[in-house]
Amino acid sequence: MSEQPPKQAPLHVGMIMDGNGRWAKARALPRLAGHRAGAETIRRILEACPGLGVHWLTLYAFSTENWRRPDDEVSGLMSLLDQFLRERRKDLDKQRIRLNAIGGLERIPEPARTRLFETMAATRHHDRGVLTLALNYGARSEIVAATRRLAEEVAAGRLRPDEITEERLSGALSTAGMPDPDLIIRTSGEMRLSNFLLWQASYAEFWCTPTLWPDFSCDEFRRAVEEFARRGRRFGGLANV
Ligand code: IPE
Ligand code: IPE
Ligand code: MG
Repeated sequence: MSEQPPKQAPLHVGMIMDGNGRWAKARALPRLAGHRAGAETIRRILEACPGLGVHWLTLYAFSTENWRRPDDEVSGLMSLLDQFLRERRKDLDKQRIRLNAIGGLERIPEPARTRLFETMAATRHHDRGVLTLALNYGARSEIVAATRRLAEEVAAGRLRPDEITEERLSGALSTAGMPDPDLIIRTSGEMRLSNFLLWQASYAEFWCTPTLWPDFSCDEFRRAVEEFARRGRRFGGLANV
């Protein structure tokens, strides 16, 4: 993109990529065709990020609740993940984007899991952006795991209860070291978090669109980012007038 990024760009954007199934249904196609089209949207959106001033992009790709879907859809999604990582590797290198992942990665089946770890290792020095895939991710289980880790520290005598602060809890989450999301975009007309980044999204701006994820365009992404730039974020204080 040749246009300049807006002055108040969201440094970190979280995307709840929803509507692949409805997109496929509207075309009388199998749900997996919708997921495939959705993977193509990711390619476009990733390319648009630097021009919009977005350094961190976090994509909700598979939730802890998505295991409730039929086995063939789950295995189709996991093969698509493997294919996505294989096909996008050259883009990550070209754009110097580091791949990161959050969630219960141990449950991601092979070969996607190995490819995921290989791609993260191979891109770890890239410094122009970070793509985080939320896979088998659920914010509640993330918070429970972090709480358990801190409780273990306390039980072992390495941490006092009064040393448990917001910063320490943030540091025990899978997003440790990442800035909180500034903007969360959800496609397909739904207006809920569905267990995505509950802690981290405390002061995120929300932007929802009826567009289904496979139809989400770079133009619409730019509009969301521009609207974000016009919003007044007060963080509980008073507007600067
Ligand atoms: C989002 O699209 C992709 C995942 C949750 C993996 P959906 O598959 O949820 O699409 P709809 O909501 O059924 O249209
Ligand atoms: C949210 O979409 C999860 C992902 C985008 C991975 P869902 O389609 O699973 O959410 P619900 O069930 O409509 O809340
Ligand atoms: Mg959905």
